[in-house]
Amino acid sequence: MRVLGIESSCDETSAAVVRGPSSRPTLDSLVILSQDIHAIFGGVVPEIASREHLTAIVPVTKRALAEAGVSLAEVDAIAVTHAPGLVGALLVGVSYAKALAFATGKPVVGVHHMEGHLFATALEHPDAVPPFAALLVSGGHTLLLDVEAWGRYRLLGRTRDDAAGEAFDKAAKLLGLPYPGGRHLEALARDGDPKRHRFTRPMLNGGQRLGDPDYYDVSFSGLKTAVLVATQAATDLDAEKSHIARSFQDAVVDTLVAKTKRAAQAHGRRRIVLGGGVACNGALVAAMREAAAELNAEVFAPTPRLATDNAAMIAAAGLFHLEQGRQDGPTLNAHSSRPIPGLVAR
Ligand code: KG4
Ligand code: ZN
Repeated sequence: MRVLGIESSCDETSAAVVRGPSSRPTLDSLVILSQDIHAIFGGVVPEIASREHLTAIVPVTKRALAEAGVSLAEVDAIAVTHAPGLVGALLVGVSYAKALAFATGKPVVGVHHMEGHLFATALEHPDAVPPFAALLVSGGHTLLLDVEAWGRYRLLGRTRDDAAGEAFDKAAKLLGLPYPGGRHLEALARDGDPKRHRFTRPMLNGGQRLGDPDYYDVSFSGLKTAVLVATQAATDLDAEKSHIARSFQDAVVDTLVAKTKRAAQAHGRRRIVLGGGVACNGALVAAMREAAAELNAEVFAPTPRLATDNAAMIAAAGLFHLEQGRQDGPTLNAHSSRPIPGLVAR
């Protein structure tokens, strides 16, 4: 089965062609157009995002089909992100996917964006398949899941406030870095002294026990305040920036790694899969590998192209659902917020 994937939930217009079976997916093409315009405003402007998707979606899709060397007629189904995200942005992808499906008589399936992130790594690593512990860290979400099987997700922890990527972006903004600031902050932190500032590890202490409500959850808003206070206290901010960035990153990484390790340990998982834009962070991946080694577990991290928002992961997740016999009709709609499907009880 050959699936055309479409993603437009935030500020990337993307289309991809993925071929099944879903147990061994092949990526035939992936086109991602990032909307650079939001950098001017220091954050995504929803109305502008929708308009940009409108102008980009047709050429991006055509290019993805051309790069895969197929026509629309040779595609078996269409998968599209329908939740969660900016509703106006999502609607562009959903409306276009439904129109293509209606015009060609092919099935369309709506995919949850975060479920898509779970499937991304398997496109590059054949062993990044369930069962595994998953840490999804993006600009809008931070989820810690135990993935028993595709379509069966145990939600263990999430952020109580800011998402990990959002925290990186806000800290970066306080340090005067461009938006989105995650990768700029990582670069700045490389020259930082880890001992000059010591920020507390949010929601992480040795007294936490399995069953406690904060055992797996994270919280990053206090850390953002710590960065603010440190920048205000600095007499020479330019000289201090890299040290603040380093301490911020260390605190986020330590917290995410400790919580993920708890998840893998509690469920006896030997595989840890990372996803979302923050999975591009080299310090996070390195620290996760070190912690996983103590459990004899392996860490799978996607390359940046598949870690950040892309349509290949949507096509891969869609492929799985289509193989399960699921498909949506003309009533498929966009939703700004929705729980990941397939949740099982803790
Ligand atoms: O998954 P994604 O592309 O979009 C959402 O679904 O939100 O993630 C984007 C987020 C941004 O917050 C960005 O700053 C962050 O990923 N990010 C990073 C790095 N590269 C991207 N954060 C930390 N270190 C990086 N190297
Ligand atoms: Zn995302």
